[in-house]
Amino acid sequence: MNRLQDRVALVTGSSSGIGSAVAKCMAAEGAKVIVNYASSAKGAEEVVAEIKENGGEAIAIQADVSQEDQVKRMFGAIFDTYGTIDVLVNNAGLQKDAAFVDMTLDDWNKVISVNLTGQFLCAKEAVKEFMRRGVVPERSSSAGSVICMSSVHEVIPWAGHCNYAASKGGVMLLMKSMAQELAPHKIRVNSIAPGAIQTPINRSAWETPEAKAELLKLIPYNRVGIPEDIGKAAVWLASDESEYIQGTTIFVDGGMTLYPGFATGG
Ligand code: BGC
Repeated sequence: MNRLQDRVALVTGSSSGIGSAVAKCMAAEGAKVIVNYASSAKGAEEVVAEIKENGGEAIAIQADVSQEDQVKRMFGAIFDTYGTIDVLVNNAGLQKDAAFVDMTLDDWNKVISVNLTGQFLCAKEAVKEFMRRGVVPERSSSAGSVICMSSVHEVIPWAGHCNYAASKGGVMLLMKSMAQELAPHKIRVNSIAPGAIQTPINRSAWETPEAKAELLKLIPYNRVGIPEDIGKAAVWLASDESEYIQGTTIFVDGGMTLYPGFATGG
């Protein structure tokens, strides 16, 4: 249980949902975890407390990832506390759903600025530090790892969610372009694309038996995902066990991207 021993890992948006599971799973593997949150200080403190109760190391830092000054302040606080950073999990994200013709510019801008620009801003600060420091062989054979939290909607179009799907499609080519550019520096960049994971963001899709039955029709594996499914994948993707994986999206979706309608149709 020490695959991330002594590595400093920032997980953005980890006061709840998928991010909190990633933070806890990484801490359980020996990482020093920064639990970033935008507004839920209480949620972040609960995640930190749980990590500490289990013998791990964590701190909470507030920052809205879409604001460059706040991102720079957060990285400054990380360097003051831990001296460096080894792993960035670009997890913070949100939905502002609307039919296309009803979608306001605010709905559009909010989702793009957190889900896509936020990933750019955090990655930029992390990568600058990875390049400055280089490889520290005692901790990892790479100079650092960026994991972008994408979605099955980086490839599945999603009516009523154009802003969200556009943000995740953007994350895909941001990730791949960074991976290509940064590989010579031994900096790893990859994505995880979760399917339907039971969290507050998609409560309406699983909270009633009727909604859940409809959702399961989209999941060949016939269960809704849990945040730990993503936490385990993130640990492995951040660890040296996956060192040679670069510029790839790992789908953790119970087969949602396998065109389930074609199991009987077509
Ligand atoms: C969305 C969820 C949705 C899932 C599968 C995720 O990226 O945030 O709301 O349930 O994709 O459609």
